Amino acid sequence: MNQKEHWEKVYTSRQPHEVGWYEPHLRTSLTWIGDLSLPKDARIIDVGGGASTLVDDLLNEGYQQVAVLDLSQAALSVVRTRLGWDAARVMWLEGDITSIELPTNFFDLWHDRAVLHFLTEPDGRRKYLDCLRKALKPGGRAIIGTFSPEAPPRCSGLPVERYTIKAMQELLDREFTLERHHKELHITPGGTEQMYLYCQWQRAANHQIRQTCDPQGGSPADDL
Ligand SMILES: C[S@@+](CC[C@H](N)C(=O)[O-])C[C@H]1O[C@@H](n2cnc3c(N)ncnc32)[C@H](O)[C@@H]1O
Repeated sequence: MNQKEHWEKVYTSRQPHEVGWYEPHLRTSLTWIGDLSLPKDARIIDVGGGASTLVDDLLNEGYQQVAVLDLSQAALSVVRTRLGWDAARVMWLEGDITSIELPTNFFDLWHDRAVLHFLTEPDGRRKYLDCLRKALKPGGRAIIGTFSPEAPPRCSGLPVERYTIKAMQELLDREFTLERHHKELHITPGGTEQMYLYCQWQRAANHQIRQTCDPQGGSPADDL
């Protein structure tokens, strides 16, 4: 069974509140997004949003340009049905974050809870990062929640990569500045403990990105 088939099966065989990663509301994500004081027309993408209620809550808070991307058509369909008429206010993207073409310098905020950690091969992680760098505006923010080393080695029956803050910093490299991070214990509906690591990053502004890529441009550390 490939990844897409796996996730389609998950969302066609279980209710949203029965999956291990279920939370009624993504409180940490909502608090951190609120703390950013983004304008209500900021472009926000929830990568691998699944059937989570983040989009419902963002719409309720007045955000006007929310996109939800997921590999699973069934997951997106659950949320569209739940939202009813409000579904028309959301940009729906069915696709794989390692291969989908997203618009360049488009999003102000990239949100990912429990998706990056399923990319256990370096090639998948590289493609995820290429996509993040392309789609996020310079100066934009990324909030990423992954399993931390205390969490089990599998999620949804699939192997996961677990991250320390140091490993995340190495992965995102110096084009991204760490703004905040914390660990949070999630208890699955079945009672399993999963420690998450949440991090918030800011992508360097335009001139800083040029410095990073230009060998004549001096040390990027001077600017960051
Ligand atoms: C553990 S769930 C988390 C869902 C949601 N973010 C939440 O916190 O409730 C992982 C989600 O990522 C999606 N997913 C997995 N691999 C993906 C990929 N390569 N591209 C896009 N979505 C993916 C799955 O379909 C699933 O909805």
